Amino acid sequence: MILSIESSCDDSSLALTRIDDGALLYHIKISQDEAHSTYGGIVPEIASRLHAQRLPEILEKLKIFLHNDLSPIKAIAVTTRPGLSVTLIEGLMMAKTLCLGLNVPLICVNHLKGHIYSLFIKDETNAPLPRTIESTPLNPQSLLPLGILLVSGGHTQILKMYDFNHIALIAQTLDDSFGESFDKVAKYLGLGYPGGPIIESYARTFKGQYPHLRAQHFPIPLARNKKVQFSFSGLKNAVRLALQDLPKPLSEANMASICAGFQEAACHHITQKCELFFKEQKKQDLKHSGLAEDSKERCAHLKHFAIVGGASANSTLREKLAQLCAQYDITLHLAPLAFCADNAAMIGRVGVEHYKMGDFTPLFSAQIAPKSIEGDFMADSILG
Ligand code: KG4
Ligand code: ZN
Repeated sequence: MILSIESSCDDSSLALTRIDDGALLYHIKISQDEAHSTYGGIVPEIASRLHAQRLPEILEKLKIFLHNDLSPIKAIAVTTRPGLSVTLIEGLMMAKTLCLGLNVPLICVNHLKGHIYSLFIKDETNAPLPRTIESTPLNPQSLLPLGILLVSGGHTQILKMYDFNHIALIAQTLDDSFGESFDKVAKYLGLGYPGGPIIESYARTFKGQYPHLRAQHFPIPLARNKKVQFSFSGLKNAVRLALQDLPKPLSEANMASICAGFQEAACHHITQKCELFFKEQKKQDLKHSGLAEDSKERCAHLKHFAIVGGASANSTLREKLAQLCAQYDITLHLAPLAFCADNAAMIGRVGVEHYKMGDFTPLFSAQIAPKSIEGDFMADSILG
């Protein structure tokens, strides 16, 4: 099995994944939401100190699960990029120490690939002993090429996966990410961190309690721009300006109205850009097949689309994209809610792929990087 470590941001997490079939055998995670809540965002120094304390704490629990016998561990997989340098280093140092102690190889994992592979986790952690499950998990091969919307606290991207080693970066945000904009709006409203689930719950309250009212209107970012790209800083500013005009302290109704209006605009923006992406894919079909334009809105070669990352838990986003995919005859895939946010299970799942390819990194050259590195993702013009 592979022991995997995740510490790229504010979650300390470890997992054990079986190498043969990628089944998740054990998973443990401690979030630091509370520690950062009063600051309205992650404080890297605090996050780093908490990882230094909590990673050894959860390693003790993992050892108990293994009855102190670490001999089945054949490799250590760790997130080395992208993320906060001071938190990534905590995971990498623990990984190197374990590799030395157990005399096993090191696997360096890109966190974003981890989010993609959260789709393919075969969770056996609650399965009865002996741990085998009937249901077949999603097989990555059967979905290729796979369109992916990755929405997290640090990233908002559209990717297209041709295979494990060939993932094209199609579009990304020009400024803030989708999740980050929820965090910032929550901070303006004094609602704590992480903002995503809090804003979503206020927006839901608005729909439930004030069905006769219209939510605060915000302009949809880049609505007239025909490029597949994202932007959230203008929308975030529009919220800040709208707040200035409202009487203080903010009433519950106004708070909920702002949350509902902001969430609607942010999700609408993503949906519009995903539709542009689907349209572009359809154009590629026509170019390759030479056929006349088909009036039906469907793509011949892109049959599967997935939403991954912490913010993929947002139900309005899920609903809007489910509708769009249905319209384009594309199957939408979602990771289980438990594996949307950062976790070591997804890192272990990617670790299995690297292990099978013999893709290990010598301890002396293994480094952390705040951003993805060359070769992790490519331009679609090279791959498509
Ligand atoms: O993937 P993740 O756990 O960490 C990063 O890699 O960044 O994503 C965390 C982000 C945070 O910005 C959080 O506010 C956002 O995901 N998020 C949400 C929701 N749940 C989490 N954003 C919108 N709606 C949600 N329900
Ligand atoms: Zn993440």
